[in-house]
Amino acid sequence: MSAVRLSTGELASPAPQHLQGGSGVPLEPLSRTPFQPRAFTVLGGSVLAVPQQAYIPQPHPRRLAIKRPAGHMLPTVGLGVYKSASGGECYASVLSALRLGYRHIDTAQICEQEAAADVAVADSGVPRGEIFLTTKMWLSNWGYDKAAAGVRQSLAELGTLYVDLFLLHAPGDPGLRAETWRALEDAQKEGLIRSIGVSNFGIPHLKKLAQSAAVQPAVNQIEVHPWLQRRELVAHCKAEGIVVEAYSPLAKAQKLADPAVGAIARRLGVSPAQVLIRWSLQKGLVPLPKSNNPDRQRSNLDVLRFELSAADMAALEGLEEGLITGWDPISDAPV
Ligand SMILES: NC(=O)c1ccc[n+]([C@@H]2O[C@H](COP(=O)([O-])OP(=O)(O)OC[C@H]3O[C@@H](n4cnc5c(N)ncnc54)[C@H](OP(=O)(O)O)[C@@H]3O)[C@@H](O)[C@H]2O)c1
Repeated sequence: MSAVRLSTGELASPAPQHLQGGSGVPLEPLSRTPFQPRAFTVLGGSVLAVPQQAYIPQPHPRRLAIKRPAGHMLPTVGLGVYKSASGGECYASVLSALRLGYRHIDTAQICEQEAAADVAVADSGVPRGEIFLTTKMWLSNWGYDKAAAGVRQSLAELGTLYVDLFLLHAPGDPGLRAETWRALEDAQKEGLIRSIGVSNFGIPHLKKLAQSAAVQPAVNQIEVHPWLQRRELVAHCKAEGIVVEAYSPLAKAQKLADPAVGAIARRLGVSPAQVLIRWSLQKGLVPLPKSNNPDRQRSNLDVLRFELSAADMAALEGLEEGLITGWDPISDAPV
C-alpha cells in the first residue's frame, strides 16, 4: 500500500482506509509544492485530472476524498460536532470517530468545542497531518482585528499550528464582511490556515464577496439533504469551483422514517442514514453527519460498498420540500 504525502510534509502511512478507493486503490503520492488557494480535484480510484478552474465535483461511486493539487486532502465524510455537548461528550465523540477512521472533523467557535476536540485529537494518536480540521469564525468576531485575533484564539483552543479550513460561519454584517474575509486571507498567507471558505452564503453573498476577495472561497458549507436541495446554489458553487459541504445531511434525524428512504434502505440492506449520506456523496457534496454514538458513527462512514441507482437518486430528489431544520442565514442575512 503506498503512502500519502500531505503537504505538511508528514508521511501518513498507511493511508486511512476511508481515504482509499473502495477497491483499495492507493492514493497518488502527492507533491510538496506550496498549496494553491482554491481548486480542489476529485479523488476516486484514481485522481481525475481536472483543470483547476473547470473543477466540478462529479458523482463518483468511489469518490472518497477531494484534494488540492498540492496535496491538501478534504475527506468526503466529515464528523460534525455542533450538537455534541461541550467538553466530555465532544471529546468522546471525536476520539471514537478518529479511532473508527474519520479524518475530517467539523467544529466551530460558537460551539465552544474546539478545546475538547484538541484533546481528543491529541489522545487519538492519529498524526495531526492526517486530520482535516475545520473551524468557523463566529459573528461576534467580525471586523479585521477581531477576526485576526479570532484565528489565533481558535488555533490556541484547538492546540494546533494551523487549521485546514476556516470558514466565515455566515454572511454576517455586510459592512464588515470584506475586512473579516481579508483577515482570513492574511492568516492563510501566514500559514495559519490552509484553506478558507464560507458557510450559509447564498448566491448574492458569494457574488458580493467575489468583488472584493483576493482569494475566492474554497468551500461553502450549507444545509443540504433531499428535503432541502438548494439546487440553484449548489449549481452556482460547482460552476465557480466551490466545494459544497452538506451540513445536517440527515435532516437532524427528522426524516429517517421517510417511506421512500426506508424502501431504498431495505432493498440495499443499509440504514436510512447511510442512504442519505450516500445521496450526498453521489451529488458531489461533502456530507458532515453528526453522531455521538460509535455504532452510528461507524455505519455513517460505511457508505462505499453500495451505490444508489439513477432511479433511487430520482426518488430522493422527489422529496424536496424546502425543509430547513436549523437557521437560515442564506435567506435572512443582508447582502
Ligand atoms: N455551518 C452551520 O451553520 C451548521 C449548522 C448546523 C450544523 N452544522 C454542521 O453539520 C453537522 C451535522 O448537522 P446536524 O448535527 O445539524 O444534523 P445531522 O447530522 O443531519 O443529524 C444529527 C442527528 O442524527 C442522529 N444520527 C446520526 N447518525 C444516525 C444514524 N446512523 N441513525 C440514526 N440517527 C443518526 C444524531 O444522533 P446521535 O448523535 O445520537 O447519533 C443526531 O440526532 C453539525 O454537527 C455541524 O458540524 C453546521
